[in-house]
Amino acid sequence: MKDNIIVYFSAEGTTKKVATSLQERLNGDIFEIVPKHIYSKSDLNWMDKNSLTTVEFNSEVRPEIASSIDNLDQYQNVYIGFPIWWYIEPRIIDTFLDKYHDKLHNVYLFATSGGSTIEKATSRIKSMYKDINIVKTGTFNNVKAIDEFLK
Ligand SMILES: Cc1cc2nc3c(=O)[nH]c(=O)nc-3n(C[C@H](O)[C@H](O)[C@H](O)COP(=O)(O)O)c2cc1C
Repeated sequence: MKDNIIVYFSAEGTTKKVATSLQERLNGDIFEIVPKHIYSKSDLNWMDKNSLTTVEFNSEVRPEIASSIDNLDQYQNVYIGFPIWWYIEPRIIDTFLDKYHDKLHNVYLFATSGGSTIEKATSRIKSMYKDINIVKTGTFNNVKAIDEFLK
């Protein structure tokens, strides 16, 4: 059994930075959820009702993941990070959880955002994947938040 893996999705780089620093601090492995379709700047425009992310938010689509991992059940602790989109997790996180929810031991959720907390995403994930053992969650918009989380 291994200790820690950090799994993350990041469209614009912020969550990636946080995930990398978490990996260094926890001395774990890292896995990036890479979308088959890379989100463009216009896909990410939340002001546009027809942008891809707005359309995805309003549906239960499961965007395809291009990367894959087959040994997740070897990890005691799985840290899953994502940006908050429309107050909740991006649909591609649901794609990941659909596929891997029964392979996860202890789960730690973390998010970056423009200010929203991870709370709504946590309740949504808890209600959709009742078998996941969520140990702790955190919104990492500054280094202090990560320090607090790791205490
Ligand atoms: C489509 C979209 C929706 C977003 N919705 C929210 C939101 O509801 N609340 C919030 O605080 N930030 C929101 N943001 C801002 C992101 O959560 C924030 O910039 C995040 O750190 C981006 O992470 P990334 O660089 O890893 O993709 C949104 C960003 C995008 C692109």
